[in-house]
Amino acid sequence: MRVLHVAAEIYPLVKTGGLADVVAALPPALAAEGADVRLLLPGLPAVLDAVQSPRTVLDVGAAFGAMRVRLLKGRMPGTQLPVYLVDAPYLYRRGGSPYQAPDGSEWADNLQRFALLGWVGAHLAAGDADPDWTPDVVHAHDWHAAMTCAYMAEHRPTAAASVYTIHNLAFQGLFAHDDWALLGLRSAFMSPAGLEFHGQLSFMKAGLKFADAITTVSPSYAREIATPEFGCGLEGVIQGRRGDVWGILNGIDPQVWNPAADAAIATRYDADQAAGKRACRRALQAEMGLAADDKALLVTVVSRLTSQKGLDLVLAALPALVAEGVQFAVQGTGDPAFEAAFRMAVDAHPGRVAVHIGYDEASAHRLIAGADAIAVPSRFEPCGLTQMYGLRYGTLPIVRRVGGLADTVADGVTGFVFDEATPTALAATVRRAAALHKDAAAWWRMAGTGMAQDLSWAGPARQYLDLYQRAMAARAAAPRVVLG
Ligand code: ADP
Ligand code: GLC
Repeated sequence: MRVLHVAAEIYPLVKTGGLADVVAALPPALAAEGADVRLLLPGLPAVLDAVQSPRTVLDVGAAFGAMRVRLLKGRMPGTQLPVYLVDAPYLYRRGGSPYQAPDGSEWADNLQRFALLGWVGAHLAAGDADPDWTPDVVHAHDWHAAMTCAYMAEHRPTAAASVYTIHNLAFQGLFAHDDWALLGLRSAFMSPAGLEFHGQLSFMKAGLKFADAITTVSPSYAREIATPEFGCGLEGVIQGRRGDVWGILNGIDPQVWNPAADAAIATRYDADQAAGKRACRRALQAEMGLAADDKALLVTVVSRLTSQKGLDLVLAALPALVAEGVQFAVQGTGDPAFEAAFRMAVDAHPGRVAVHIGYDEASAHRLIAGADAIAVPSRFEPCGLTQMYGLRYGTLPIVRRVGGLADTVADGVTGFVFDEATPTALAATVRRAAALHKDAAAWWRMAGTGMAQDLSWAGPARQYLDLYQRAMAARAAAPRVVLG
């Protein structure tokens, strides 16, 4: 089966969150199961610089406001998977985040930037961008790649099947309705049956309305997004696709996240080497300026600092927990108010609370290896990867029972789970963890249960392959899209 993945980011070249980790790890896992997998990415500077042996497969000319667009093909460093790049210097060759200008505002031309990505994806799907390779399935990730499904909708039933994965329903790619003409689609696509969403254009809806199958990154989140609480206003659209929405849990990359072979951490260890984990803990306390306290429960947070992640609960519960002897080591970037509040927590609790405001992969590994527990108290969480990294590193997750957190952590077995999004509920759960932590043998037994869990991509990759078959069947049976 030939599968094309379309996405905006990929670890380690361009990463703003877990999406990049998934886009790096799922394609090779599918290839290991026998699929012929390729990627399509925007030609952002870090990607253009890293891709090996790029050559031009198509000179597109002017498109979406860019004078010169070319389709390049090369190989991903590391996995060696074939990768197509949309090289549109005017739209993509710029520094900073893939989505935002340095001042934090969205790039003003995001509509053109991500419509172009989808448009090229659809041409690859239709077989007229690279005559040497036509996919059976195009798998688009998040709103950035969702327009692929809209452009492909016109080619039913002949072209490839489309599968759309929601990594986070809260980011929807909304644009001014007046800009619809830039998309080059029939006006019927702009109706509520298409991309129109409360007077705006929604790229997320391109995936939800036109993909042959929809997935999200955990079974619980797949159920949650059909409700008003988690549906971000799109619950009706999602209910309308009931039967086509699947939850497939993410895996983690066992090469990148492996405490037995991790070059970033002080001492490598495995489930039968508790001393190695203790050494990582001491090294972390020293690195972060925390008191060298062997008894304290050391809790880490590695996260985007946004309201999704529930870190206001950590801030509110922190003073009482610190007074009871708990240590916190936090790393994150995001909302300036959270950044300031965590900095203040360090000033208020020197030696007990350490904070690194910044983004640093190696340090994330040291925090997760060195801490006893990792807190992920999210308000919503499509999957969440850091709690799984915690499981792999014998660092017990303390999580809220939502989305993928609920699906990956078993209370009292592999970690600690709470329900209410309140500081009281979080504090009570950290106290439960602190009580167990006093019994080192019991704690390490529980850590061992998590470390033994299969978190690899092999199982999810097989689930995706089954789903691709279904999507192909659905595509073959589907009529041409009729709109408005
Ligand atoms: P999300 O994608 O919602 O941010 P995930 O848990 O799926 O949440 O993925 C977050 C990814 O980003 C993980 O790989 C995590 O280690 C990483 N990460 C988040 N913040 C930081 C940071 N400040 N430094 C290093 N890595 C970070
Ligand atoms: C999103 C979600 C996160 C998920 C990640 C990868 O960023 O917020 O929960 O783990 O995508 O699928």
